[in-house]
Amino acid sequence: MTKIRKAVFPVGGLGTRFLPATKAMPKEMLPVVDKPLIQYAVEEAQAAGIEHFIFVTGHNKTAIEDHFDANPALEKLLAKENKFDLLKFLQDSTFDSGKISYTRQSEPKGLGHAVWCARDLIGDEPFAVLLPDDIFHCKTPCLKQLVEAYNQVGGNIVAINDVPREQTNRYGILSVESDDGVLVKANGMVEKPAPEKAPSTCAISGRYILSPEVLDELNHQKAGIKGEIQLTDAMAATLDRVSFHGVRFEGTRFDCGNKIGFLMANIEYALDRPDLSEEFRQALKNLKL
Ligand code: G1P
Repeated sequence: MTKIRKAVFPVGGLGTRFLPATKAMPKEMLPVVDKPLIQYAVEEAQAAGIEHFIFVTGHNKTAIEDHFDANPALEKLLAKENKFDLLKFLQDSTFDSGKISYTRQSEPKGLGHAVWCARDLIGDEPFAVLLPDDIFHCKTPCLKQLVEAYNQVGGNIVAINDVPREQTNRYGILSVESDDGVLVKANGMVEKPAPEKAPSTCAISGRYILSPEVLDELNHQKAGIKGEIQLTDAMAATLDRVSFHGVRFEGTRFDCGNKIGFLMANIEYALDRPDLSEEFRQALKNLKL
């Protein structure tokens, strides 16, 4: 199986749901505890063996570029003050030169279009896509679980979770051919179907391993629901020649594109932090809920 070396991070979205916080700051830089959302996705990709990181950006996103670059002045200051733990945080988010690429999506034409913008950087090899709004609190990083499935069955792979039927209109939904409890083989999929039309309640979460055939389909630039070029439609169009599986990942997904998901992620990740958990747990108990 070809190694998955490259990952695409679509970060062009405007983040209007988090205004005013996102007026001058990318939504991907919102912190969960003390780390920006985008860094969770990047660290997950690193843990899955990704070697090249491709960001599809837009207006107002330069803070992301700065975040993953070296900051010599701050490093010097922290070293001088012997703050080596903080220095390590900086180094952990600094990429080696050439390992990260940025390209722009100049119009908001949908997720499929955003991925297509990275086509020349991806080339002719399978690649991962990580939507940074979704963060996954898992023992084995979610993308690593997908890579493990990919190494067994190949083809296109997505993370899935079961959602209440009334929520199918928020997700890409699979039409299920077979299901062994973890791995779901799909023979169709539809983007954001109404509950009564949804072929199942198996929803695509924001992690993908995709074959280059998906990029070929995206070349057609066909608009789907909401007039946007949908990644789900391009994946569906490859079903006649590329197998498609969903992986019911082990762990919890937080949809940080909405406020409740974002707040819950902050609580869960803070409770999981050895340096914060006890004091935070106590503070939560003191809340009059
Ligand atoms: C996108 C995809 C959808 C997927 C979802 C997961 O939708 O188009 O298929 O289920 O991400 O978060 P969006 O949330 O961008 O509307």
